[in-house]
Amino acid sequence: MERIRTGITGLDKLLGGGIVPGSNIIVKGTPGTGKTTLGMQYLINGVKKYSEPGIYLSTSQEIGNVVAEFDGSDFKIAELAKDPDKLLLSQFSEASFRKKGGGKKALQPKDLVEAVNFFLRGKTQYTRLVIDSVSTLTYNYSNPNEMRHELDRVFNFTKSKGLTTVYLTENASGNAPFGFEDFLADGLIELTEIEDKKRRLRRGVRVIKQRGSKIDRVLREYKITRGGIDVYPEEEMFV
Ligand SMILES: Nc1ncnc2c1ncn2[C@@H]1O[C@H](COP(=O)(O)OP(=O)(O)OP(=O)(O)O)[C@@H](O)[C@H]1O
Ligand SMILES: [Mg+2]
Repeated sequence: MERIRTGITGLDKLLGGGIVPGSNIIVKGTPGTGKTTLGMQYLINGVKKYSEPGIYLSTSQEIGNVVAEFDGSDFKIAELAKDPDKLLLSQFSEASFRKKGGGKKALQPKDLVEAVNFFLRGKTQYTRLVIDSVSTLTYNYSNPNEMRHELDRVFNFTKSKGLTTVYLTENASGNAPFGFEDFLADGLIELTEIEDKKRRLRRGVRVIKQRGSKIDRVLREYKITRGGIDVYPEEEMFV
């Protein structure tokens, strides 16, 4: 089966070769577990290793700040982003939306659809998309059914456009219950931190699901370095 490789070798192995093309994958994790790093790595590898252009859409942080955070890394984001036909970085937030004349209306998932549609109108055939993060989009809903419906529409939209999308999601605690978005997605990857017997925090990644694939669901150790996320697919975490 054809796969969209994240280019993170160990993670692709856990995913049974990579992400199923045209699917929606949720990457959820507690603060600082490397969600943004994973998303960027997915896009950068897409450009460098597989000649697949991608879009990074931030729903909160300003792009300048995101880029600055990776100054010390080997990612060279600013350089790649000079050519938006390869890597397109954009902020989609309530603040930016208001600046563009969106008025006082709260930011909604359908606005995100509009933004992505706009980028797809050009000549570039983007295949990879990262939304950082979904959590910001759901704040404006008090009715969970409405929120689920709206998010379902976004998921269907990215799929209909043939995009393979990584939706980053904030997880308040390591053992928080699954959210409705976890059920809507085709795949679910969890990034977590566990304190071992020596009270050291160790990072662990687990592929919880990928529809239509044989996956490795064991919690595996990963590290974050200048080169990004490195998953050790043979190292089972015993804590
Ligand atoms: N060179 C490096 N070596 C080791 N760890 C690093 C390195 N660069 C960044 N990190 C770690 O990566 C983490 C930040 O990653 P990232 O911003 O991708 O996480 P995140 O899950 O998106 O965070 P947030 O919840 O704030 O959005 C930090 O914990 C930081 O310590
Ligand atoms: Mg982040």
